[in-house]
Amino acid sequence: MKRILEPELMVDEHQVKAYAQADFETPHQDFMRRLSTLINEPDFSGTALDLGCGPGDISFRFAKSFPLSTTHAVDGSQPMLNAALAALNPDLAPRLHFIHGLLPHVILPQSNYEIIFSNSLLHHLPEPQVLWQTVKNYARPGTRIIIMDLLRPANLALAQKMVQDYTANEPEILQRDFYHSLLAAFSLEEISTQLVEADLKLHLEQISDRHVFITGVIR
Ligand SMILES: C[S@@+](CC[C@H](N)C(=O)[O-])C[C@H]1O[C@@H](n2cnc3c(N)ncnc32)[C@H](O)[C@@H]1O
Repeated sequence: MKRILEPELMVDEHQVKAYAQADFETPHQDFMRRLSTLINEPDFSGTALDLGCGPGDISFRFAKSFPLSTTHAVDGSQPMLNAALAALNPDLAPRLHFIHGLLPHVILPQSNYEIIFSNSLLHHLPEPQVLWQTVKNYARPGTRIIIMDLLRPANLALAQKMVQDYTANEPEILQRDFYHSLLAAFSLEEISTQLVEADLKLHLEQISDRHVFITGVIR
């Protein structure tokens, strides 16, 4: 099945509200568990970069898990950032900064980061090298990369089954978004080719029927 693009930025207020209120506990907890195992440094005190942070659920989880860290979290959608700022615990505010900016043009406060992570951004990008080039631009030797995204199912029937299996209890707008995201996602082979093109030596692993996990350390 060929990739079918969905709108790059999530700017519709209803869509943002539904996404911000959705229950992502299982995948986001799994993301953090895998990230924490890889980082293996509870007193990490550097700065991390969250690309395509949306309403900030993973940014919040990261900031809480690493109490000495600073996080710069970027998104091109102001409504998403408004949702993130509305949910931001004042205790985290001094070290969790939400930044409005569009990849790859955004100019970030630091020229490089110790950790770069991203969840569910890649499939939104019409041109996937936007993510890989941003990673390269803001990494330095030793930067740890942790990325999770959806994988495109083999056909429409499988995509519809996944919507039923994983979002049956969610509002219709979220079910529709999930369906469109599955159709816009890349295959393992496509992501592997993207990494070769970008000359990024990262480890690629399918971790569920619909998720890929991409990790590594920049040399
Ligand atoms: C599916 S959401 C993921 C949000 C969050 N990372 C999470 O896991 O809940 C993807 C986000 O990427 C943002 N986005 C898409 N293209 C972007 C770009 N070129 N630059 C910045 N943000 C972008 C969208 O606006 C949206 O908020």
